[in-house]
Amino acid sequence: MTAQIIDGKALAQDIRQQIRQQVAQLGPQAVPGLAVILVGDDPASQIYVRHKVRACEEVGMRSIAQRHPADLAESQLLEHLDTLNRDPAIHGILVQLPLPAHISAERVIDAIAPEKDVDGFHPVNAGALLGGRPGLRPCTPLGCMRMLASIGLTDLGGRSAVVIGRSNIVGKPMALLLLAANATVTICHSATPNLAQVTRQADILVAAAGRAGMVSGNMVKPGAVVIDVGINRGADGKLCGDVDFAAVREVAGAITPVPGGVGPMTIAMLLANTLDAARRSAA
Ligand code: GUN
Repeated sequence: MTAQIIDGKALAQDIRQQIRQQVAQLGPQAVPGLAVILVGDDPASQIYVRHKVRACEEVGMRSIAQRHPADLAESQLLEHLDTLNRDPAIHGILVQLPLPAHISAERVIDAIAPEKDVDGFHPVNAGALLGGRPGLRPCTPLGCMRMLASIGLTDLGGRSAVVIGRSNIVGKPMALLLLAANATVTICHSATPNLAQVTRQADILVAAAGRAGMVSGNMVKPGAVVIDVGINRGADGKLCGDVDFAAVREVAGAITPVPGGVGPMTIAMLLANTLDAARRSAA
């Protein structure tokens, strides 16, 4: 049996189409606005920011892209954030990570108004997720949940979910969203012994370790759903995930590809969060 492929690109396209209609219904007086800030010239970050801005425009949202040199002072960045926080035409603010070493990502994240924090990284939103309160959720984990929902997995009661990775951006919020959906959740990371033994228990396996091809076929329970969050550059220069796709698709029940899986969903969820933030600001 080969696994069903969960087509994130097509699913993201559907969601963007829906968002486009919802933006149109808000009318010209209430166009949602997103500000994306990039500091420095990291090539991958430049591509991500370009995709985010373009996606925004495609659904009829307003977008501002601020590109700053790598030597921008932290105080200047904080001033830009203060201006955007007070701009009523801006509903979402995203500072692309990673930031140059002389800037504290924590101070920057803390400076974004929580109601405009469409990345869901501010401690107020992270705390809201932990406490099961409403708030903006991180885009990548949210996209993973939507992919599970697309194959009928909404209530995960009775299912075991294993997350590989414990980052604030993916691993930790992913585990909390799975838990909120009633899964029995395990978080694994670089200091976990016998990783394969743990991952083989998973009905749902989320790989967010950032290591190319680290999830092999023998780490996957037959029939499991495997979500690959990794974006790595393989030895051949091609984009690849954390999952050995060719091997795991022969074992899994469903699997997300890289590219065309989680990546496009992250951007769709950024738009969904921006729409959400705009609606709440109007309410
Ligand atoms: N860098 C890698 N992933 C992300 C993300 O989801 N948001 C931001 N702001 N930066 C990132």
